[in-house]
This record gives sequence, structure tokens and C-alpha cells, in this order.
Amino acid sequence: MWKAARNTVRLTCSACRSVAHASCQARVSAPRVISSATPCPTGCRALSSSSTSSTAVTSTSSDGRFLTVAWQAGGESRYPFIYLRDNCTCSECFHELSSMRTVEIMADGIDADISPSGVESTATGVRITWPNGHVSDFTNAWLREHTLSTQPKDHGLGRFQRPAAQPWLASTFSPPVFGLDAMMSNENVQYDILDNLYKSGIVVVKGCGTEPMPNEVYEKLGMLQDTAFGLFWLVEARADPNNLAYSPKAFPLHTDLPYLKNTPGTLLLHCLRQAPTGGHTFLTDGFAVAAKLREENPLWYDLFSRVPVTWHQLGYDPTSDRHYHYEFAQPILNVDRHGELYKVCFSVAARGSFLSIKEDDVHDFYHGYLRWMQLCKSPEHRYEVRLEPGDMLIINDQRIAHGRDAISDTREKGRCLRGCYLSWDDVDSRFRHLYYKLKKA
Ligand code: OGA
Ligand code: ZN
Ligand code: ZN
Repeated sequence: MWKAARNTVRLTCSACRSVAHASCQARVSAPRVISSATPCPTGCRALSSSSTSSTAVTSTSSDGRFLTVAWQAGGESRYPFIYLRDNCTCSECFHELSSMRTVEIMADGIDADISPSGVESTATGVRITWPNGHVSDFTNAWLREHTLSTQPKDHGLGRFQRPAAQPWLASTFSPPVFGLDAMMSNENVQYDILDNLYKSGIVVVKGCGTEPMPNEVYEKLGMLQDTAFGLFWLVEARADPNNLAYSPKAFPLHTDLPYLKNTPGTLLLHCLRQAPTGGHTFLTDGFAVAAKLREENPLWYDLFSRVPVTWHQLGYDPTSDRHYHYEFAQPILNVDRHGELYKVCFSVAARGSFLSIKEDDVHDFYHGYLRWMQLCKSPEHRYEVRLEPGDMLIINDQRIAHGRDAISDTREKGRCLRGCYLSWDDVDSRFRHLYYKLKKA
């Protein structure tokens, strides 16, 4: 609703108020007040700083519901006043230590169409006085960072952006390699490891030894994610395998645990012992294959991103002494609301028999599936590596399909990988923390 207050909105040009600016026509000793419709009469276009984040002019919309900020570097940003009131950064409205909002707009009787009673430019940003006398100060940097936009922001807000994936082809790919000692002692190395993980989906850390490592090692990168298989599990041939991974046979391409809604984000496989022969690891970039599939046949891509596939696994894990019956339906290609692919779920072995699809689409789905498999296994896309004892392979489990060939290992203590998961949320959290701490912004 139109508020009486809108008529009293006044803008103070602080450049003119304080000093005669080079581009001002006249020195004005008293604060000048300009109306929302009238530009500063001196023609002043700039505030005190030449920083690109400086505001030049602020004004309100004719209905009094928006603040418009014209940036000295060019362009404008518009902020609904309710958004600014809701996000007041003062210590009454915002708990700085926890970064949590304390103002409660409903309980405080704040109207969605609120208009301020005063707006003025300050040396550092904008000061708004609300009808009840409450004052909010917003810095230019805050305003810049909070420019409203419909651009995708799912991967982080403000300055932080998760590094974009860089899909690769096997012929030109080699995984980034780091050393454990450097990782343990240097936060920049931890940052670089995660940065590379976002970009290529695979990182190798060497020098990890052949004994299980303590949790602190993993916590340099994120937090361990527990599952029915335990926080850590040993991939080695067992007498009665409860999972194909624990047999000596080849283990076909898959992403781990697609049957979890909370699909593990990052899989870490630490090689404690390797087989005399066999035990090669195969890695395929699901994002690259998805792009190729889309190019070849958009219909298949569409089906893959729309049709929920049931993934499942049930049994008993003797090591963790847990029974499990996991089941979850999600598409092979998961796209976000901006149409961007963010998660590939795929497992030859854990794909269930339920498909939420019309009968007439089933043939197309299988044509697409067979082509998907063919592409995943093609030399163009399948990268092969043989882990050495002491190597730790880190992969984005929501992107990279992996598998291994058969293990011809008859030794009592044969090939053994020690695996665990880190959740993406915690990897993101760790990366964001390092990003700000190491001033990567
Ligand atoms: C697994 C797995 C690969 C290997 O345990 O999920 O993929 O090389 N293992 O044994
Ligand atoms: Zn406040
Ligand atoms: Zn696996």
C-alpha cells in the first residue's frame, strides 16, 4: 500500500555535503537534500572514493518501495525496501558472530510494502531510517554483493562461487597429484586439492603410507559420512562378499550409493595393498559423457534427466554389523532448476527393476542407456589408472563413474583399498571456509 511516508522520503547527497567534489559545480556547506525525482543539482556524479563499488546516486521509486543505487562504475541495482529492512545488518537485527538473523519481520509488524522515512548516502554506503525510527546502514560492498538477480546461485551466494566443472576426455586427461605432507601442513594445498576436485572431479594424493590414516587427515577436506558400511570400509576379496566390490571379480562402472537420497559427495580410496596383476581402476567423467549424449540425441538426454530410476542395495555388513535395505529413485542425470547438470547417478549393479516411465518410451530409454554405456567404456572417455600402495584416489562420486578389472590375487593379505566418503555439504563448507580465510575472493 502507498504510505504517507513515501512523500517524506528525502535523499541527501553526501558528496556535496562533505566536500566539493571535482565533478561538483559548487561547494555547498550544508547538507543538500534532493528529492527522489530530482538529480543532485550540482551535477555531482561521484562520492568520495574512486572504488568501483562506490555508489554515485541513490533514489527511490515513485511508489516508494524500491531503492535504486547507481554505481559509479556504471549500472544500477534496485532493492525493494522490505528486502533491506529484513536484512538490516545492525546488531539488533543480526547476530554477527553466528551470521544469523534476529529480526523477525512478522513479529515486529513490518509491512511487506514498507517505505522508509529517510534515505541518505553516507561515506561508506547508504543509511535508511524506517518509520519507527530504526536506522539501517548498508555498506557499498554489501549492496554490491546483494544485487538481486535471477542468475543461478545454487552453488554459493555472494562472492563465493564453487569452481565450475571442467569436463575432460581420457586422451588428454591426467589427474592432478598432491603430496600428503603438503596437504597436512598447508591450507593452500587443501584449498588447491578441493579446487581441482571441483574442476576435474579427480585428485590423487600420494605419500599416504600403507597403514590406515587417522580421521584428522580426512577432516582437512570435509567431514566423514557414515553409511551402513561404516565410516571406513576395506575393499578386499572376502569369502562371502555382501557386495560385488568384495569379490575378486571385475566391478563394473558405477557411482557409489545412488540408492541414497543423500548420495555421498566424495569417495576416497586409499590403496594399502595392490594386487600383483589386475586391479586397474577405470574412471569416466559422467559430465563429459552426458554432454556427448545430449549432442548426439537430445531425446535420450531428456529421458535420462526426467525418468526416475530405482537404485537399491540390501544385505548385512559383517564389518559394521549393520543390516541395510537402501532404496531410492532418482534420474541418471540430475539437473537443477536452471537446467544445469549437477549429479550423475549410475550403477550397473545397483540399478533396480523399477522405472517410472511410459511403456512407449522404454525402447528409447534403453537405446540411450546402451549408448551411454558404450560412451562410458570408450577409449575417448575411460581413463585407466593403477593405484600404488600409498596412493589415495579422491573422486567426485556425483560425477565420475568408476570400476575395476578382476583381481588375480591369491595371497592371504591381497589387494586392499580403504574407502570412506565425505559429504558434499561438508566439502563445500570446508572449501568456503578456506576461500574466505585465505582471501581467495
Ligand atoms: C568400491 C569400488 C573399486 C576398486 O568399493 O565402491 O568401486 O578398485 N572399488 O576396488
Ligand atoms: Zn536493524
Ligand atoms: Zn565404487
